[in-house]
Amino acid sequence: MDKNNSSENQEQEEQVVNPWEVSAKGKIDYDKLIEKFGCQRLDQSIIDRVARLTGRPPHVFLRRAVFFAHRDFNEILDAYERGEKFYLYTGRGPSSEALHLGHLVPFMFTKYLQDAFKVPLVIQLTDDEKCMWKNLTVEESQRLARENAKDIIACGFDISKTFIFSDFDYVGGSFYKNMVKIAKCVTYNKVVGIFGFTGEDHIGKVSFPPVQAAPSFPSSFPHLFTGKDNLRCLIPCAIDQDPYFRMTRDVAPRLGYHKPALIESLFFPALQGETGKMSASDPNSAIYVTDSGKDIKNKINKYAFSGGQDSVENHRKYGANLEVDIPIKYLGFFLEDDAELEYIRTEYGAGRMLTGEVKKRLTEILTEMVERHRRARAAVTDEMVDAFMAVRPLPNMFN
Ligand code: TRP
Repeated sequence: MDKNNSSENQEQEEQVVNPWEVSAKGKIDYDKLIEKFGCQRLDQSIIDRVARLTGRPPHVFLRRAVFFAHRDFNEILDAYERGEKFYLYTGRGPSSEALHLGHLVPFMFTKYLQDAFKVPLVIQLTDDEKCMWKNLTVEESQRLARENAKDIIACGFDISKTFIFSDFDYVGGSFYKNMVKIAKCVTYNKVVGIFGFTGEDHIGKVSFPPVQAAPSFPSSFPHLFTGKDNLRCLIPCAIDQDPYFRMTRDVAPRLGYHKPALIESLFFPALQGETGKMSASDPNSAIYVTDSGKDIKNKINKYAFSGGQDSVENHRKYGANLEVDIPIKYLGFFLEDDAELEYIRTEYGAGRMLTGEVKKRLTEILTEMVERHRRARAAVTDEMVDAFMAVRPLPNMFN
């Protein structure tokens, strides 16, 4: 291989983003990702439109461009403006007992969308997916799905508008019929192109994508949407899930459904910095909803990558590099007060505020958030999980 060729290959592999792997040599280049995937940037005019249509200020994740890309979100808003409702679909692969802050991001945002638009929501727990990818037993995946359901419920979803299901329990009937119809529209070459499966992958993986695609079509939920085949679907998710829905959007018109719309988020960075990978096997790379106040303080002080200078003198002189500073990134996600964030950015960037002060403020905010989550989760009973997961009509879901 000549030199040019190999450097080209290297460049191609510098950034890998798919549902199972997110890695980059440096920072993730989101502009490149938007271009490669073919989605659109979520611009200010759409954010203003959401504020106008819902009569509430846009969510902090919209203001800070945490949700930064979309597909056909404008069409959902057009329909909504005409008086047509839609439904929300999101999900989680239950691969671990404890969720970290990054896992909460799509659910916090979905809760806001549900409240703001007053629409039904289906949440898929892909216990089958994690059983196949993570080498978990069927029983262990099912147990994790129920545990994770408690964390999801703790985010505050409205039980009169929300159906949570696990694939192992719910797949069958109309849902399975849709899976088969979807599968018939997708060639092996196509999934290899989209997901990069190889001949070494077991066939469970190759046949999984229709399971995640099926909830995008209303007829997969006859207890909710019978006679509403025209209902549109909006999927909030992190952008690594895009390949599943590229495939889904491709087949939707052939099966007589609207293409699901998407609203997609950035990845939540690891404490060690945006280049590091947040790894479930390294508990020090993330803050978990089960961490104590003391854990949170220690992790932030010890591990949160700082853009501050190496000495106080230099810091006063040059200021912090906000581009790489993890406490600033985390505050961008979770400090809701725009004026305070701007103040911290200015003072820290100019070197008048020190890393320790910024970390202290972040510790306060995250401790409060994690405490609130812990209390909410402790209040979720097994009966509530059963109630959210019961296959039942939701008579007031559009009110
Ligand atoms: N595959 C996702 C995961 O591993 C779970 C999932 C299923 C999902 N359906 C979804 C995520 C819809 C977002 C939107 O976490």
